[in-house]
Amino acid sequence: MQAAELIERKRNGEEIPAGELREFVAAYVRDEVPDYQAAAFLMAVWFRGLSPAETYALTHAMVASGERLELATRLGRRVVDKHSTGGVGDKVTIAVGPVVAACGVPFGKMSGRGLGHTGGTLDKLESIPGFRVELTTDELVDQTREIGIAVAGQTADLVPADKKLYGLRDVTATIDQVSLIAASIMSKKIAAGASAVVLDVKVGEGAFMQTVDDARELAQAMRALGEQAGMDVVCELTDMGQPLGRAVGNALEVREAWETVSGGGPEDFRELVVGAAAQLLALSDLGVDEAEGRRRAEAALEDGSALAVYERWVRAQGGDPDPARLPTAPVVRSVAAPASGHVHELRARRVAIAAMELGAGREVAGQPIDHAVGVVCLCKRGRQVEAGEPLAEIHARDEAGADEAEATLLAAYEIGPGAPEPRPLVLEVIH
Ligand code: URA
Repeated sequence: MQAAELIERKRNGEEIPAGELREFVAAYVRDEVPDYQAAAFLMAVWFRGLSPAETYALTHAMVASGERLELATRLGRRVVDKHSTGGVGDKVTIAVGPVVAACGVPFGKMSGRGLGHTGGTLDKLESIPGFRVELTTDELVDQTREIGIAVAGQTADLVPADKKLYGLRDVTATIDQVSLIAASIMSKKIAAGASAVVLDVKVGEGAFMQTVDDARELAQAMRALGEQAGMDVVCELTDMGQPLGRAVGNALEVREAWETVSGGGPEDFRELVVGAAAQLLALSDLGVDEAEGRRRAEAALEDGSALAVYERWVRAQGGDPDPARLPTAPVVRSVAAPASGHVHELRARRVAIAAMELGAGREVAGQPIDHAVGVVCLCKRGRQVEAGEPLAEIHARDEAGADEAEATLLAAYEIGPGAPEPRPLVLEVIH
């Protein structure tokens, strides 16, 4: 395999045979192909795309670059998993995992850190005092068996090709390509070895996929890869025009997830949690349909069993589940509505930028983050507001940080006359 020649063929729009893609990925992981050639290849893929056969070959080359966890095989029963393509205020895993586990279905999952402007579950979980996200493979499997749930960071030996390629994509403007995203996400799902997965494909200005058509294409590519690997896959296309729930920022989001597993929480967030849990239960070995899954998920939120699992899970990973122990920011500022009217838009990306400015996210990989800071959007799209009424809350390290975030946050809100057309949260479900 000649790397330069393979790049040239991809650049010219040729289809690359599976064997050559496998060799290219393996050589890159062994450091025999340098970053500049891998980057050129990724850019050629960004412009030319990959055929379904190439996407399949790339995915399996990535799976083959490391070990496989074989979760379902090791637990001896069906294991379910969920994944989101990345959103703002997306703390679904932290609430849906305890619900599913409380209903008797094992939920063992590897999560990631924040990417670009979107937050990551691991960063959120690390805002819980003492919480340990680094579990060995054996710890992950044993904890899932014993208490029904474990959420950990990806171990170094699982899909190392994705880790390396993802880092390169992040800095070469090659993240937002359907085949590359599908291969990246599904290689990790296949290597982890759950039996079924619910994929939440975010759509809108706060997501990588900006249109429903692009999101559907990504969903179908991921579904095909999962099914070829023997996995049941359900994709939900969900709105990411505005943040999910109210809280954006690590400890603030954990608190909101805790409120939700305790039976409260914002309506849109609870709806997505119950919907995803219902899909996961229907894909499990409980032998229930989605309607019964929904009924059981709602019961787990109401009867305290989801909260009990949440507490056991957090303790098992060394954390303190008491929300009063979450870090809090020294400055909490209320942001007043500049005019009366209805909230027509609450732009997710700008809210995410306000949270980043406060220190809740990273501008470059490896940067430390401030777990206490963030934004709480009290008024969401469609809400009628009076001038001067609190629109949102800023949780900041200092007054200067709050000033900067306030200007960004006000620009995220569009307030106008008349109620806007309602926009559904779940746009489409692909079974
Ligand atoms: N999440 C991933 O894991 N990979 C991508 O490429 C995009 C989102």
